[in-house]
Amino acid sequence: MKHLLSTADLSREDALAILDTAEEMAAVSAREVKKLPTLRGRTVVNLFYEDSTRTRVSFEAAAKRLSADVVNFSAKGSSVSKGESLKDTVQTLEAMGADAVVIRHSASGAAAQLAASDWTDAAVVNAGDGTHEHPTQALLDALTLRRDWSAARGAETPRGADLAGMKVLIVGDVVHSRVARSNIWLLQTLGAEVILAAPATLLPQSVGRWPVTVRYSLDDALAEGPDAVMMLRVQAERMGGAYFPHAAEYSSRWGLTDERLKVVEGLRMGDADRRAIILHPGPMNRGVEISAAAADSAQSRITDQVAHGVSVRMAVLHLLLTGGPDV
Ligand code: CP
Repeated sequence: MKHLLSTADLSREDALAILDTAEEMAAVSAREVKKLPTLRGRTVVNLFYEDSTRTRVSFEAAAKRLSADVVNFSAKGSSVSKGESLKDTVQTLEAMGADAVVIRHSASGAAAQLAASDWTDAAVVNAGDGTHEHPTQALLDALTLRRDWSAARGAETPRGADLAGMKVLIVGDVVHSRVARSNIWLLQTLGAEVILAAPATLLPQSVGRWPVTVRYSLDDALAEGPDAVMMLRVQAERMGGAYFPHAAEYSSRWGLTDERLKVVEGLRMGDADRRAIILHPGPMNRGVEISAAAADSAQSRITDQVAHGVSVRMAVLHLLLTGGPDV
């Protein structure tokens, strides 16, 4: 694997290799000395044309824990404001010796364009391109889901396991969500069943061709007993028109409210004596798609997702730049 552009490109073996390597990286991160020498002398460029907190910071932490040199580039405050193109920006950074370029861009396909170009020989990692994909988010979500799912099945370790039999409910603003798209492909590859619950206005026309079941009522979808509920952020910044009447109406129909939290608290994971879990990629609109009580509940795995982001990004950089799983 030269680049990581889409979860649709990942075989089951590729995905499990990343998740198993991420478990090794999590063990490193739990040590007093959280560093490995595997990328010493290599340079990772973080090229962010869109705002980010979790992804940008965790790629930086991941590269540093692997002893890489890190160059952080943010379009804000750069020569992009003077009209410099993506090509010229990349070639400028390439001249500094990039081995990997992690790119977030508002244009769907930007990462693939960079990977296909002769602007750089570096490995390209898609850190979110428009509404298209966010593969490392889906991988960290899978790492999070796999820990609970494996424990619910009595496994001593999640290593080597897939998500066969798990039912994952994804709720809300699907049409604008690169997180949803990357999750759908990866969850299918790992054997999970995916249910989408969303208003018709927040589903893409292509949803009929996706490997999912669609529900137009969140309460009906919860009644189907999902093992995990993934709430999506309402992406107001990508909404030119009116996709729903107002935030209170959205929350009452599609939000994980305090009342619906009680329903989720009654859901079991498979047939195990273990509760269903709640995920959200962040940043959250508390009180819109998720209540504060749900976000901070015992079933929430939202802070685990952030921690797993560092492990997954360490694994991806390590595998792309060293070519092997040995840590
Ligand atoms: N989940 C996610 O991509 O968050 P950021 O936008 O903060 O990176």
